[in-house]
Amino acid sequence: MSLAGFNAFEYRGDTLHCEGVSLAAVADAVGTPAFVYSRKAIEAAYKAYDAALDGVDHLICYSVKANSSIGILNVLARLGAGADIVSGGELFRWLKAGGDAGKVVFSGVGKTEAEMRTALEAGILAFNVESTEEIDVLDRVARAAGVKARVALRVNPDVDAQTHPYISTGLTQNKFGIAAAAARDAFRHAASLANLDVRGIDCHIGSQLTKTSPFADAIARLCDLILSLAGEGIMITDLDIGGGLGIDYGKEGDAPPPSHGEYGAAVKQAMAKLGSHPIRLLVEPGRSIVGPAGVLLARVLYNKDNEVKHFTIIDAAMNDLIRPSFYGSHHPMTPVKKSETAPRKTDVVGPICETGDFLARDRALPPLATGALLAIGAAGAYSFTMSSNYNTRPRAVEVLVSGDRYTVIRERETLEHLVRGERTAE
Ligand code: LLP
Repeated sequence: MSLAGFNAFEYRGDTLHCEGVSLAAVADAVGTPAFVYSRKAIEAAYKAYDAALDGVDHLICYSVKANSSIGILNVLARLGAGADIVSGGELFRWLKAGGDAGKVVFSGVGKTEAEMRTALEAGILAFNVESTEEIDVLDRVARAAGVKARVALRVNPDVDAQTHPYISTGLTQNKFGIAAAAARDAFRHAASLANLDVRGIDCHIGSQLTKTSPFADAIARLCDLILSLAGEGIMITDLDIGGGLGIDYGKEGDAPPPSHGEYGAAVKQAMAKLGSHPIRLLVEPGRSIVGPAGVLLARVLYNKDNEVKHFTIIDAAMNDLIRPSFYGSHHPMTPVKKSETAPRKTDVVGPICETGDFLARDRALPPLATGALLAIGAAGAYSFTMSSNYNTRPRAVEVLVSGDRYTVIRERETLEHLVRGERTAE
């Protein structure tokens, strides 16, 4: 059966499973809250991009920020993926996970000189440079290191991604990239510097994109620039189009995101204007690779009613999954034990002392008694990576399922982990 927003998860008998593993059994063994991921779903999503871009020279650089646990990165590294990183920390994780440094692109508006040095030493594929000042700093750091830095310039194409304002990045009012009007001069300047090897052009217009047209518009603008730069002898051979598709969060009335096939066709069509210009396509999908592959498992602690509301109080909170309170995001929810009881509206909330600590509001769910397990879906991306220790809550355990086996890829934090490095003053 298909369960909206729960791509890799299905009921077997009356119990929700991830591949061949019962989520009730996982929760009993590792406790809750727990993130559980399907390896098969991650691999299938990666392969779907690969197939959709068949016929075009391409590299899939998984966007590490979506889920940076080493156990997840290792699955992607083994598939031959590259990585899109935004910090020295993400590079560290990627290399620890067995990832190839030569397939790493380094994005972000605020790279430090120390991060640049480390990335140059590791031999990354390219820096996605986001400002004219950064061009000069990178040239200086590369010169001091005695190497040439491979770079792409990130251009802000001024395209509306038609997504949540916090995750829309390709508009003039956003902090990202070099303004389209200044891009040509920036390329000329970068190409004139001895320690930069200018090979690429890059953009990222936003996340949770549910249409292909913003991608196509951005690509068309970048292709025009590639052709006109070629006219003045600046040969761009890497076209990086940033993050990937949005995903289905199971919200009633939301249009489903485009398929990988539709995405691939739109990308190829938009690139066709390059004609015989030699190009390699880079894509940096994050959410669509890991998002549908994960759930957050929580246990019900208490129920309570007042005159206007019913509350289901669970042991997961906004520190585990901040997306509902931060972006007003909808995550699908279903009981781990299938219930035939009629649903009622409830606010699903955590133990944190904030009114903003909710995972869902006015959600129709069957009554869930104390001890019942709830699965919160589409929680593989931007969920664990955005979690915190607010209210001194240890971060959750993470489990990777493969077939009928699972591995704890990150142990639950202990209270001792939380106070590590702290001391009192004299
Ligand atoms: N490349 C760059 C330069 C990015 O900034 C991002 C996401 C990606 C790639 C990956 O995009 P994706 O394929 O995942 O759409 N925390 C927010 C999402 C922030 C996205 C930031 N950048 C959320 O929970 O919705």
